[in-house]
Amino acid sequence: MNKEIKKICCIGAGYVGGPTMAVIADKCHDIIINVVDLNESRIADWNNDDLSKLPVFEPGLKEIIKRRRGINLFFSTQIEKNIASADMIFISVNTPIKQSGVGAGKASDLKWIESSARQISKFAKGFTIVVEKSTLPVKTANTIKKILEVSNFHNESTDEGNNKHFEVLSNPEFLSEGNAINDLENPDRVLIGGEDEDSINALKRIYLNWIDESQIISTNLWSSELSKLTANAFLAQRISSINSISALCEKTGADVKEVALAVGMDSRIGNKFLNVGPGFGGSCFKKDLLNLIYICDYYGLKSVSSYWQKVIDINNWQRNRISRIVVEKLFGTLSGKSIGILGFAFKANTNDTRESPAIEICKDLIEEGVKLQIYDPKVSFENIEIDLNNDKIKNSSDSLGGWCYVNSIEDAANNADALIVLTEWMEFKTLDWMRISKLMRSPSWFFDTRLITDTEQASKYGINIWKIGKDF
Ligand code: UDX
Ligand code: ADP
Repeated sequence: MNKEIKKICCIGAGYVGGPTMAVIADKCHDIIINVVDLNESRIADWNNDDLSKLPVFEPGLKEIIKRRRGINLFFSTQIEKNIASADMIFISVNTPIKQSGVGAGKASDLKWIESSARQISKFAKGFTIVVEKSTLPVKTANTIKKILEVSNFHNESTDEGNNKHFEVLSNPEFLSEGNAINDLENPDRVLIGGEDEDSINALKRIYLNWIDESQIISTNLWSSELSKLTANAFLAQRISSINSISALCEKTGADVKEVALAVGMDSRIGNKFLNVGPGFGGSCFKKDLLNLIYICDYYGLKSVSSYWQKVIDINNWQRNRISRIVVEKLFGTLSGKSIGILGFAFKANTNDTRESPAIEICKDLIEEGVKLQIYDPKVSFENIEIDLNNDKIKNSSDSLGGWCYVNSIEDAANNADALIVLTEWMEFKTLDWMRISKLMRSPSWFFDTRLITDTEQASKYGINIWKIGKDF
C-alpha cells in the first residue's frame, strides 16, 4: 500500500520538533503539519507575532515560520485532535538522563516517550506511521511498538471498526544547534530505520522533495538507532582527543592549533571537530555516550563501556582544569576578586546552555569566592539563574562569591581581574584591548579557552594572556 501523507502531527515543540517541522512545511506545501506540546507557554511563544520571541533561536528559522505559520504549519496544545487526524506522527519529546531508579545517571528517562506512545495508541485512527525522532537508546522502538501493539491487538480482538494499525520508524536527527536549518535543508544523509517498506517509502517521499535519493539510507530499526548514538560518540571522542592533546601542548611548547591543522590535513582523519575548547556540552553528546555505556554494560561489554566512559572522563577533566588554572594564575585565591565571563551558551549561535561547560566552570569559580560578571549575547538572565543558583550557591556562606548578569563585553571587563572566553561568539574575536585594559584591574589576565581571540595587541596594554593548548 502506498500511503499518502497529507497530515503530520509532531509531538514535542522543542529544539528538534520545531525546526524539523518548519523545514518539512517549507519544502512540502501540500502537507499540513501540526506541532503539539503540553507546554502552553512554549506553544504561545511559537505563535507569537513577534518572531524574536520564538522559543528556539536558529538562524533562518524565523523566516520560515513567517512564510509557513498559519498556512501549512500550526502550533497548538490540541494533542488529541491532531493525533487523531494524522497520517504520520513524529515523536520529538525530551529524553533526559534518568535522575533516579534503575540506570540513574546513565539511561535515558523514557517516560515522555511512553506517554506519547500511549496518547498515540489511544487517539490515532486507521493506519498511522509513527516516527521516532528524539535521540533514544537502542531498542526504544520496541517500547513504542509494544505499547502500540496493544491497540493493534485490541482492534483485532474487538470489532469496533476503528481499524487502528501502526508501523514504527526510526528517523534520527543529526541537527547541530545554530546550524539546524542548514543541516535540515542540506543533510549529509537521512537515515530511516524500519521493517515495513511501504512506511519507509512514505517517509522517504517526503524527504525526496528536497534531498537526493542517494543521500537517503534505509536500515533496520536497531541499526538506525545505534547509528545515531555512534555518530555522536565518534564526534565527542574527537573533541576529547584534541582536548587531551591540548594539555600536553601546554607542557611541551607545542601549539594545539598547529597540531590540529597538521593532523586534520590527513584526509583519513579530516579537519572537522578538531577545535580545542573547555569541553563539549549540549543536550546530545553526554547523553548519547551515557546511553551507549549503559547499553554496553547491560550486554556485559565492560571493556567497550569503559572505553567510551573515558571520552566523558576527559571532558570533565578538561572543564575542571580550566578553573584550576584560573585560580593558580590569580595567585591561588579568588576571594574579593571579579572575573568577567564571555559566553555562557554551550557553543556560539545558540541560546541553549544544556550541559554547557560554563555552568560547572562558573560554579567552581564562585565557590572560590569570586564575583562573576557574566555576558552572553543570547543567553538570558533567567536561564543562567536556573543553571547557577542551585541550593549550594544559594545557601553558601559569606566566603563564597556570586554572580551578576551584564549586557556587554565592557561591563564584563569593568573592574575585573580576569576575563575568560568560554563560548566562541563572533563578537569576541576582535576585542578593543586598549579599552578593555583601561576597564580592568591590574594585574589583569585574559583566558581564551576557545582559541578565537587575536591577542597579539593585548600584551602591549599590559594584559597577561593564557590560551588553551599553548605554552605560556
Ligand atoms: C551535536 C551533533 O553535532 C549533532 O549531529 C547531533 O544531532 C546533536 O549533537 P550540537 O550538540 O548542537 O550537535 O553541537 P555541536 O556543534 O556538535 O557541538 C557540541 C559541543 O562540542 C559544543 O559544546 C561545542 O563547543 C563542542 N565542540 C565542537 C568542540 O569543543 N570542538 C569542536 O571541534 C566541535
Ligand atoms: P529536544 O531537544 O529533544 O527537542 P526539548 O526539551 O527542547 O527536547 O523539547 C521537547 C518538548 O516535548 C517539550 O516542549 C515538552 O513539553 C514536550 N513534551 C514532552 N512530552 C510530551 C507529550 N506527552 N505530549 C506533548 N508534548 C510533550
